[in-house]
Amino acid sequence: MSSQAEHKRAHGGPQAAAEPLMAVEGLMVFYENALAVNDLSLTVPAGQMVGVIGSNSAGKTTLLNTLSGLILDQRIKELRRGGERITVLGRVLYQGEDISDLPAYRRARRGIVLCRERHPVFPDSSVVENLRIAAHLVDRARMRQGMELAFELFPNLARLRRKKAGFLSGGEQQMLAIAMALMVGPRLLLLDEPLLGLSPAMQKQLVEAIGQVRRQTGVTIVIAEQFARPILPLIDFAYVIENGMLTLTGTGAELMDNPEIKSAYFGV
Ligand SMILES: Nc1ncnc2c1ncn2[C@@H]1O[C@H](COP(=O)(O)OP(=O)(O)OP(=O)(O)O)[C@@H](O)[C@H]1O
Ligand SMILES: [Mg+2]
Repeated sequence: MSSQAEHKRAHGGPQAAAEPLMAVEGLMVFYENALAVNDLSLTVPAGQMVGVIGSNSAGKTTLLNTLSGLILDQRIKELRRGGERITVLGRVLYQGEDISDLPAYRRARRGIVLCRERHPVFPDSSVVENLRIAAHLVDRARMRQGMELAFELFPNLARLRRKKAGFLSGGEQQMLAIAMALMVGPRLLLLDEPLLGLSPAMQKQLVEAIGQVRRQTGVTIVIAEQFARPILPLIDFAYVIENGMLTLTGTGAELMDNPEIKSAYFGV
């Protein structure tokens, strides 16, 4: 299995010196005394799709929440409630700058957008209304462009534009959630288990749509998944985590052929 150094070399060439869009160094996240992410370092090169693969409770959501800054909001909320103490150690770098203390809304303004797990949409609002809500940060022209792109990438949504999001299928809601994340024109899109709970047919459709998103927008993606097989062909480089710790790394193709991965994460 190739190391991170090999990864850098393989994707290096003339761009070897180029800064990754995002990098995480020695990240540790504690919920009270429980360690959810344990000394994790990873690199997200611009334009690539990076996978974070791990089973339940591996730390995928905690990691993505730390990349998006949401964990800082959670920490403040817990403090106010007198609940558990959340401690984050290590550094998150974005375009070479340490953003570890930057709140989520400011990261979003800089193009880091999280699409949370279990397709979060506003169930009582229509598809179009959901897209408008997601675009409240951008001007009208950008909103119109965003909406056109959303309906081009997800033709299903165009047909369902007046329907309440709560009445859409799980897969349709997931597509809407991704379309909402795209409305602000992210540079780095963080997808937390977009395939979770979808039928194989719907997963296939969604994987195709994610591929299309990449080709059309050039957005850099970090995608977390448990059963990673359907998405591995699209993944440039993946990090496998267990109990918050890095256990394996490799290209999507390498992981496709790895017997350990097959038995643990392909549901076979
Ligand atoms: N708010 C929290 N308070 C306390 N412990 C938490 C909290 N959120 C997560 N944890 C714990 O941290 C560990 C990592 O959880 P996390 O949700 O990041 O994993 P995950 O890989 O996203 O799992 P899943 O596949 O179930 O979504 C787990 O042991 C979990 O119980
Ligand atoms: Mg999760």
